[in-house]
Amino acid sequence: MQKDTIKTNKFTSVLLDVKNEALAQIVDASSIKELEELKIAYLGRNGKLTNLIKNIQNLPDNEKRQAGTLINESKNTVLDALSTQKNTYKETARDWFNASIPGEKPSVGHLHLVTQAIREITETFEKIGFVKVRYPEVEWDWYAFEALNIPENHPARDDWETFFIDTPTHPKNGSMVLTPHTSNGQVREMLRVKKPPIRMLNIAKNYRRQSDVSHYPMFHQFEGLVVDEGISITHLKGTLDYFARNFFGEDRVTRLRPHHFQFTEPSFEVDISCGVCKGKGCKLCKEGWLELGGAGMVHPTVLRNGKIDPNKYTGFAFGWGVERTYMMKAGLDIGDIRLLYSTDLKFLKQF
Ligand code: FA5
Repeated sequence: MQKDTIKTNKFTSVLLDVKNEALAQIVDASSIKELEELKIAYLGRNGKLTNLIKNIQNLPDNEKRQAGTLINESKNTVLDALSTQKNTYKETARDWFNASIPGEKPSVGHLHLVTQAIREITETFEKIGFVKVRYPEVEWDWYAFEALNIPENHPARDDWETFFIDTPTHPKNGSMVLTPHTSNGQVREMLRVKKPPIRMLNIAKNYRRQSDVSHYPMFHQFEGLVVDEGISITHLKGTLDYFARNFFGEDRVTRLRPHHFQFTEPSFEVDISCGVCKGKGCKLCKEGWLELGGAGMVHPTVLRNGKIDPNKYTGFAFGWGVERTYMMKAGLDIGDIRLLYSTDLKFLKQF
């Protein structure tokens, strides 16, 4: 019995010694790294306090429980001391900086493909003196249709599959619409500039009730309008060829095909020579040409609606889809316009 008491006393005193030794070293430690080392030295798998647990089995049965409690208390005291001491350090760069770990690159986004296209188109036309403007996307019927020689109930309006806004009708301007094309800017620009020369580039969002691989309900157009004395089809053709060469590549040319728009006379569809077969005909283009969009010489009625004298001035206009024009750039290979407005980052990150 007496022998057992000696054993227990010895265990308790060794435990106290180890605990005090640990606490003294913790107070003396001067870095977080040293504290981590002390934690391992006392509480690690082979630590001094951990090893004392092994001695419990030599104690008398009725003392084992108390010894276990004592060891646990000591472990908790040492853990508390380690954490208190850790908090007293202000972490310095030396404690956490490890120059050998590779840095983490923040992910950097980029401009959306359509924004890139708008910038590129703008730069190309600004180089030859076009002035970039942007006219309302929520527009009066007058500017979107009537002033462009397309009266109400005219069947040509069906081509534009327009969204109408449920607001009271204006006595002169009619109903309110989401503009289905950038041609609404033509008369607005004439009224703004008042006296030619006019060299307008209107890039804006348009809305139509359409959705398939080549149509989206919201898309962008860029509209060119030039009005001055003596402007002819030659100027239109020269401008289109300039754009084709600078935007698509040196070897690309355009051609004009007769067409009909209410606001231009004559009117054309503009084609560009295919970038793959260079105009010879291939699987992509079939006959060597790809369709770009509409163009023509400004109708005298439209000039008059813009308060410009058609006997003195003439002009040309063209209006093409930003998305479709950009999708025709060689190498892009985007088969469905709807992908541009999806939130599929895997697709968008490619450009
Ligand atoms: C027009 O919108 C005329 N305002 C163009 C014009 C301007 C002619 C000036 C003469 C003078 P059109 O409806 O064809 O024409 O549209 C022109 C282009 O817009 C099309 O060739 C196409 O590139 C693009 N586009 C039309 N609808 C959509 C749509 N739903 N989604 C994407 N692009 C479209």
